[in-house]
Amino acid sequence: MNKDTRPASFLTSAAAKPLVHAACLAPLVWLVWLGVDGRFGPNPAEFINRYTGDWAIRFLLIALAVTPLRGITGLAAVMRFRRMLGLYAFFYALLHVTSYVALDQYFAWAAIWRDILKRNYITVGMLALTILTALAVTSPKAMVKRMGGRNWQRLHRLVYVAAVATPIHFFMMRKGFQIEPLIYGAVAGLLLAWRAGAWIRARAQGRARAAARAA
Ligand code: HEM
Repeated sequence: MNKDTRPASFLTSAAAKPLVHAACLAPLVWLVWLGVDGRFGPNPAEFINRYTGDWAIRFLLIALAVTPLRGITGLAAVMRFRRMLGLYAFFYALLHVTSYVALDQYFAWAAIWRDILKRNYITVGMLALTILTALAVTSPKAMVKRMGGRNWQRLHRLVYVAAVATPIHFFMMRKGFQIEPLIYGAVAGLLLAWRAGAWIRARAQGRARAAARAA
């Protein structure tokens, strides 16, 4: 069977995108439900902040896994969802930071600024958010045209900096040994290694082709 036919017919169907949107919004709907049901626990601000942070990092890693998934399975149609998944990572990161600004700091901008400068994990979080914002703003197709494909690609490689910064942010914020940030860090590392491998292979093939042409 051609790898890119049967599953691709679902992935390219009109129903696929609404379904993926519904799946991406499910964590938010669940959060609202937990709130309505009074299940935020003794510290609702912390619960919301951690929950949205968790989903931001998950969507970031899921979005980063799309290209390797295409490479491994040959399913080109999965690329339709990459931008959407990246934007959901940004969306949950925005909710995460908004919860920190509104529910944790009560919009005390001077204190927030002090936090950004003094608490290293907040500084690293800010770096990740700045990158995700730049990527979200430049994600529409019109921006690719305006910036030129090469520049756009160069900017979007920063997603790997965000993917490494976020587990560091998580690791630094927790006291003592914690397995979760290490798992996210390991997944980010694997995705980065896959990308590096693909890049090295592409360069080697390019060189071999150039050598064959010259011969
Ligand atoms: C200005 C940017 C950011 C600020 C101010 C910020 C703030 C925070 C704070 C205060 C916590 C700790 C909550 C606690 O002590 O209970 C936290 C945890 C966390 N943040 Fe951020 N963050 C930022 C950016 C990001 C971004 C961009 C991501 C993901 C893409 C992210 C993912 C996480 C995760 C996964 C946790 C740990 C959640 C857990 O304990 O389960 N943060 N952040």
